[in-house]
Amino acid sequence: MRKPVALVTGANGEIGHALIHALAERGDLAIVALDLNPLPAPLARLCAMTLIGDMLDKNLLERLISEVAVREIYHLAALLSTRSEYTPDTAHRVNVGGTLELLRLAVSQARRDAIPVVFVFPSSIAVYGLPDRETKARAGAIGEGQFNEPTTMYGCNKLYCEHLGRYFHKHFGQLDLTFQPSGVDFRALRFPGLISADSVPSGGTSDWGPELLHAAASGNAYDCFVAPDARLPFMAMPDAVRSILGLANADPSRLRQRVFNVGAFSVSAEEIRGRAERAFPGARLGWAKPGARAAIVDSWPADVDDRAAREQWGWAPEFGVDRAFDEYLIPTLRRRYESPA
Ligand SMILES: NC(=O)c1ccc[n+]([C@@H]2O[C@H](COP(=O)([O-])OP(=O)(O)OC[C@H]3O[C@@H](n4cnc5c(N)ncnc54)[C@H](O)[C@@H]3O)[C@@H](O)[C@H]2O)c1
Repeated sequence: MRKPVALVTGANGEIGHALIHALAERGDLAIVALDLNPLPAPLARLCAMTLIGDMLDKNLLERLISEVAVREIYHLAALLSTRSEYTPDTAHRVNVGGTLELLRLAVSQARRDAIPVVFVFPSSIAVYGLPDRETKARAGAIGEGQFNEPTTMYGCNKLYCEHLGRYFHKHFGQLDLTFQPSGVDFRALRFPGLISADSVPSGGTSDWGPELLHAAASGNAYDCFVAPDARLPFMAMPDAVRSILGLANADPSRLRQRVFNVGAFSVSAEEIRGRAERAFPGARLGWAKPGARAAIVDSWPADVDDRAAREQWGWAPEFGVDRAFDEYLIPTLRRRYESPA
C-alpha cells in the first residue's frame, strides 16, 4: 500500500519551514517536501521524502503519485510579487503553470484512490487593486469580492489560480457530460504581509515590514521604501501557519466559498518603525524616496474583512498587533541577533 502523505511545495521557503514543523507536530500524515533547493538537514529529517527539483517537471510529479498517496497538498511554491515584476513571463510560467500541474496531480491522485485531495493555496492581498491612495484610505477593510483588479503580474497569477482552483473543485472538463467530480477539495487563503522572526524574506513587496524589524534588531541601517503613512495588513508567521491548518482541517459542509481573507492587524510603516526604535534603541532607520514598489503597496488594501473565515471555519488570530510585537517578534528577534555567536 502507498503511504498517505501531505505534499508541501516550496517547502524551503519562509512559510514552508514553519508549516513543516506544524505538520510534523500534527503528526497524522507523513510529509513530502518539494523545492528547487535542498532543505536544511534538521527540516529534512521531519519529512518522509524530500524531492529537489522543479514542480513543472511532469515526470517528477508522476513518479511521486506512483510511490505515495497524496491526501493533502500545500502548494506554496511561487515567485513572489517584486521578483515577478522583474520577470513577468517566468512568474506566469511558474505561478500559473505550477499551480495547474499541481491541480492536475490532485485530480489524478483523487481518481486513482477515490479519496478527495485537500488542496490548500496561499493567495494574497495582491489580488486587490485599489486605484489610488484616497480610495484606499476610504475603503478600510475590504471584502473578498471588492476591487479584484490586480496591478501586478503576481496578483493576476494569484487571482487566476483562485479561479482555476474553484473550477477544479467543481469539476474538471466541462465536456465530460458525466460531470464526474474531480475529487479536488480546493481551499485558498488571501494572506496579508507575513512577518517571521526566524527568517528574512526576499522578493515580496510587503517585505519592508519584516526587513525594517530585522535590520533594527541586527544593527544594520535600513531605508524603508514606502512612505511613513503606507499601511498594510500584516500577520505573524505562527498565525499564518495556524490559518493554513485551520482551513485545511475545516469541516467541508460549513464552507460556502473556496477563497478567504484572513486578517490579524493593520499597521503603517511609521508605527512599525516606532515599535522597532523603542525595542532596539540605536536602530538606524530612515526613509528612501518611495518608488515603484511603494506604488504597488498603495494599491493593496489597508485592511481586510475576514468575517467569512471567522464564521465558516472559526478563524481568529492569536497575535494582534501588541502581542505580535511584544510577545513574538521583538523577543524572538532579540534572541536571534543578540545571542553570542
Ligand atoms: N510571505 C508572504 O508574506 C506571503 C503573503 C501572501 C502569500 N504568500 C504566498 O505563500 C507562498 C509561500 O511564500 P513564502 O514567503 O514561503 O515564499 P518563499 O519565496 O520564501 O518560498 C517559495 C519557495 O518556492 C520554491 N520554488 C519556487 N519555484 C519553484 C519551482 N518551480 N519548483 C519547486 N519549488 C519552487 C523556492 O525555492 C522557495 O523555497 C507563495 O505562494 C506566496 O505567494 C506569501
